[in-house]
Amino acid sequence: MELLSSKFHNTQPTTRLPHLRLPRWRHIALFAAVAYTLYCYLFSLPLFAHPLPQHTGPYTVGTIDIEAAVSPDHAIEPDIRFKTTGNSAFELETVLFTLYYPITYSDNNNNNNRATAQPRRHPWIPAPLSLRAQGYAKAAHINNWLANALFTVIIRALVGSITIPAAVDAPLIDALTSDKPASPQQVPPSQNRGHPVIIFSHGTVSSRTDYSHFAGELAARGYIVAMLEHRDGSCPGTIINAPNKPPRPLLLFSHTEVSFPNHTTPTIETFHAAQLAFREAEIEETVHVLKRINAGDGPFLSTSNPRSEGTTLSTWKSRLNTNVMLIAGHSYGATGALQSLRGGPTPTRPFAGAILLDPGKSSGPLNTDVRVPLLVVHSNTWSSQSSLFYGGRAHFDTVRDIVTDNLARGNPSWFMTSLGTSHPSVTDAPLLEPWLLSFTTGATIDVYQGLRQYVHVAEDFVWLVLGDGEMRGLLGERAEFPAYEAGWGFGVWKPGQGGGEREGGEWWDWRRYWQIHVSPVG
Ligand SMILES: *[C@@H]1O[C@H](CO)[C@@H](O)[C@H](O)[C@H]1NC(C)=O
Repeated sequence: MELLSSKFHNTQPTTRLPHLRLPRWRHIALFAAVAYTLYCYLFSLPLFAHPLPQHTGPYTVGTIDIEAAVSPDHAIEPDIRFKTTGNSAFELETVLFTLYYPITYSDNNNNNNRATAQPRRHPWIPAPLSLRAQGYAKAAHINNWLANALFTVIIRALVGSITIPAAVDAPLIDALTSDKPASPQQVPPSQNRGHPVIIFSHGTVSSRTDYSHFAGELAARGYIVAMLEHRDGSCPGTIINAPNKPPRPLLLFSHTEVSFPNHTTPTIETFHAAQLAFREAEIEETVHVLKRINAGDGPFLSTSNPRSEGTTLSTWKSRLNTNVMLIAGHSYGATGALQSLRGGPTPTRPFAGAILLDPGKSSGPLNTDVRVPLLVVHSNTWSSQSSLFYGGRAHFDTVRDIVTDNLARGNPSWFMTSLGTSHPSVTDAPLLEPWLLSFTTGATIDVYQGLRQYVHVAEDFVWLVLGDGEMRGLLGERAEFPAYEAGWGFGVWKPGQGGGEREGGEWWDWRRYWQIHVSPVG
């Protein structure tokens, strides 16, 4: 934006016609709109975002927004306060998450079983859209009324009509059907112990809706996913509805906006540590709410839910496996998920395994106190762009050592790179704007294929941890690349090469999509 405006400004003096002068922002907006339209026309692209695709698993997906009061509300790192208001920056009043879960069995070959009535859906950008737009503008360091208005208009035009293809408040499936599954392996594990639960933590400048397709795909395979929205200053815009208080909008904020009582600004490291502590508290609170739902507290959580959803939670009593859960996260969220394994599993953090997608490069040191199975997946660009990490080591080596050491302690663990993908590949962004994301992030893989690869390996890991311990699919393969090797990048390895004995099977061309760096398979 800045580049664009200065360029425009520099060309003005020679050609300026005084009577045609428009305010500069109109020129910029006009220029951007014309350039974008022209681009779409030249490359035969749709002007607006693609709708989110239907899920591919055997079950239809339901969704519920839950916001639950934390009792008593309390501040995490109470000394860190906003400079403007003097209020605590890390005040934990409520926890907010979206549930994605299976609702009815539907054979993919026979769509008659799918619900025919059009169910209510969540918008991809929760209301008010302007709050989110303001957060994005702030993230781009151009937070003023003009930029906010412009962002609101652009975001509304691009993704304002996008909805998440999951039925709001539909009843949880009675039992995971085993008579007609798409494949025998697709019946999720631990039915007798209740539905398996995965808690997911988002990255920075993200929210609970940014990973809706990944979460929905797991729900369509029989799992229950609780997608958190963090109030630690990393969400572009969120509203906190604490009991007996007016709604409190919270925008993205940085360490420069807060201070200690002695008026010093915390270092970025101190700020990150506080954010991670806040995230950990939110994760524990989510576990607590899920346990309450399982204990039969659904009706109360529904009637006290400021989001006015959850009328079907009354039927969730004793239906979840809340004794053992999985934690997952992306980027900053992966750093937080790893941290939540510290000293665990415990009743407040009952995580029997963790899925870490692109663990953060600048969100603080990575926790090494782990005693449960780990699946670490790097996107291609996360592995290929090497960066120095805490203690001066390469980030990749630090991550590999955590996985290798955990494996040596007897916990099945994997570290792998998903070829052709980039950092946002697991989010909804590439599904909505494929060309924009490929262009700006260097992803070369088909966006649907990229996400599907993530879903497959995540599902296999959930099966291993909460199911029967079987290392199926990719998890049964040997580590052939101790280091990431650019030469073997996406598309170089053709189907069937090296995997002859199982040619034609589900994973026979997995080498096109993966490099495995650490695996328990010898
Ligand atoms: C201000 O307070 C913080 C937190 O108590 C402390 O870490 C920091 O050293 C203090 N700075 C000064 C200059 O006293």
